Amino acid sequence: MLIIFVKRGTMMLDKNTILKDMAIEEKASLCSGGDYWHTKELKKYNIPRLTMSDGPHGLRLQLKQADNLGINESEKATCFPSGATICNSWDVDLIYKMGEALGEECLKNNVHILLGLGINIKRSPLCGRNFEYFSEDPYLTSKMGIAYINGLQSTGVGACLKHFAANNQEERRRVINAIIDERTLREIYLYAFEHIVKETQPISVMSAYNKLNGRYCTENKELLDMLKNEWEHKGIVITDWGAENNRVEGLIAGNELEMPATNGKSDLQIVQAVKEKVVSEELLDERVGRLLDIIDKLTSNEKLGQSYDKQKHFQLATKIAEESIVLLKNEDEILPIKSKNIVVIGDMAKKPRYQGAGSSTINSEIIENAYDSFISAELKVDYANGYSRLPSAGDKKLRKEACEMAKGKDIVIVFAGLTEEYESEGMDRRTLDIPTNQNKLIEDILKVNKNVVVVLSGGAPVKMPWAHKVKAIVNGYLGGQASGKAMVNVLMGKVNPSGKLSETYPLKLKDTPSYYNFPGSNLNVEYREGIYVGYRYYDTFDKEVLFPFGYGLSYTKFEYSDLRLDKIHMNKDGKIKLTVKVKNVGNMSGKEIVQIYVSKENSHTYRVKHELKNFQKVSLEAKEEKDIEIELDVRNFAYYNIEEHMWCVESGEYEISVAASSRDIKLTQKIQIKSNDPDLKEEKNKKVYKDVNKTLRKDFESRYGKKLPLKKLKFMAATADNTIEQLRFRPIVMPIYIYQKYVKMKKLLKEQNVNKATKVMMDLQKPLRCYVVKKDSKYTEEMLGGFIDLANLRLIRGIKKILNKK
Ligand code: BGC
Repeated sequence: MLIIFVKRGTMMLDKNTILKDMAIEEKASLCSGGDYWHTKELKKYNIPRLTMSDGPHGLRLQLKQADNLGINESEKATCFPSGATICNSWDVDLIYKMGEALGEECLKNNVHILLGLGINIKRSPLCGRNFEYFSEDPYLTSKMGIAYINGLQSTGVGACLKHFAANNQEERRRVINAIIDERTLREIYLYAFEHIVKETQPISVMSAYNKLNGRYCTENKELLDMLKNEWEHKGIVITDWGAENNRVEGLIAGNELEMPATNGKSDLQIVQAVKEKVVSEELLDERVGRLLDIIDKLTSNEKLGQSYDKQKHFQLATKIAEESIVLLKNEDEILPIKSKNIVVIGDMAKKPRYQGAGSSTINSEIIENAYDSFISAELKVDYANGYSRLPSAGDKKLRKEACEMAKGKDIVIVFAGLTEEYESEGMDRRTLDIPTNQNKLIEDILKVNKNVVVVLSGGAPVKMPWAHKVKAIVNGYLGGQASGKAMVNVLMGKVNPSGKLSETYPLKLKDTPSYYNFPGSNLNVEYREGIYVGYRYYDTFDKEVLFPFGYGLSYTKFEYSDLRLDKIHMNKDGKIKLTVKVKNVGNMSGKEIVQIYVSKENSHTYRVKHELKNFQKVSLEAKEEKDIEIELDVRNFAYYNIEEHMWCVESGEYEISVAASSRDIKLTQKIQIKSNDPDLKEEKNKKVYKDVNKTLRKDFESRYGKKLPLKKLKFMAATADNTIEQLRFRPIVMPIYIYQKYVKMKKLLKEQNVNKATKVMMDLQKPLRCYVVKKDSKYTEEMLGGFIDLANLRLIRGIKKILNKK
């Protein structure tokens, strides 16, 4: 019987009827991609294919040669600021608009799912992909994420929330086992996923490459059950590209779609598993049923193909970049620029660093640099390059030229920051330093002119050894295609800066809470610092920082008053209404980000000093005062009770603070909360950490509640699951590793080919099994087996298999 899967608008055929008619082979075929970016089409049932594309800060549509690392050029699109940047705006309405605009670009190109948003928490500032992610704080991440996904999905285009879960480093991302205790997992690493899923129902969630507590995320039943059953996610789970380890286990755990294509290989495994009753047909139906629902929903969107207003998107990209710029220092009110006698120094003023490398690389429609923007703003500036992107012998000369030019100028604006090779998918940073040639340049300029303004680019915290000497620091992060223009608008005072840091800038790497446990060993990474991530650590243990979480200046000043206790009342639904007056006491209109932190002293359990529980961005004219109303959901005060395995609100006194940053508390009030939730019984939960970043393994093990796995790979135990990098000390593997990493990769980096260099690194860090999945792979299963034998020193057997090839 031929059943037609009817498009919406006509009568929709019951999906159960289709499922009843389909052969197991047909159902299984829908569970993996048709190629790199599409699902399979099933003509017989008129089931169309879905088109997917990266994400997240623009559309990376690849019509020609497909890859998932941004190596091959994609179609032109609007390049919005990256995730780390937009989060500094704390502007949910603006992010909603960005999501909406991204949806419109997808519609125009008939893309059904945009592979974003990435929301992994910034455990360490070194994670190479932090530029894509939002924050070290789960609450801020969830609020910004909700806005983005609601905006995107309002167009009928599906989001893909990634990378689920605990993909907090790039080093060995495809094999590393993240070991995280239950409370930390819930409160820090899953919190934003939970809230975004519950509030937005993203069409899809992407299961991460890494293992979480011993199981690949793609086949981690506990994790995917939580998503589907506890949080009631109705959409589908898609594997990260090439992340599937065991397809049948993955399907059982809850992965509907494996991407990209496996050329039928994994479909056959599913068919066999159903035939052998390892997987029930009902389970397969449940997975395929979800796929059919999503395919029907996304492909029947009547707005598909509709065009959009490019200019409007460009303007929006500029506006978001402006709102996200963070003014970190402004001594003597050197900014906004008041003089015409200025010099602009730094390669990045002409060639901006505006996005990171890897799968999110957008082929930007236009790129507006700062130098040209000064000229268009009719400010004639002198210019010197100052440094080369990759430090070279010529730098000394460039510095000299720059210093000559800086002499006698009223203001010297130096554009500096992280260069391309520092921030990429697939690689973590090793240091917080910016390139030495740039630090030297700033120091040299300071010797001839004290009026130095540093404009920073980069998607993550850096060290600023010159911070106390320069007059001003403005951080534009990675501002997308309009980064240069937006920065000039702020420098010249056309826009009053209003961004605030969504992550802490530590003084040095050693101060970071994960310092001794990042990126972990060959096999595992132990999250020993627990819930003490970002400001939760620095503020609880009174550590000095360079710039705190939530910090950012404005060209005007704000005053807070009248946190009205009498106005705080408990509603029936357990909400608190907080009212506070905020006044712009300066002479320029501006915006303030009012932050609410909650703390609980004398708790039954260990606690961090305070946690962000709400915020509001307020716009105020000069001298204007407003009453700000902010609601607090008491359920949000909960901690995760590991005895009851549930979120519990503890009864007692809480302190609510209104703040301009996590270190700038303006007003506080106390409230009493009565709760019926169960309290912890065991004394051990009270144990307070001493020096979090030095937590001993045995203490972590006791908190984890299970025996910790081996730290190192046992000799002779190499399997197809291991990577070349993990096996690099084996005699056969060592020369391959050395050549790839120290010859090939170095050469590519020298040529500034960051994406290709990253690919080499990623190949060294991908499980050996992945080398044989591709149809056109030059390696066979037999050769793979041979290579593993060689790594295990079974030489004759290995050579025979390799020669045999099959
Ligand atoms: C990345 C994902 C991306 C996918 C497709 C993977 O390498 O981790 O974030 O969406 O490739 O390009």
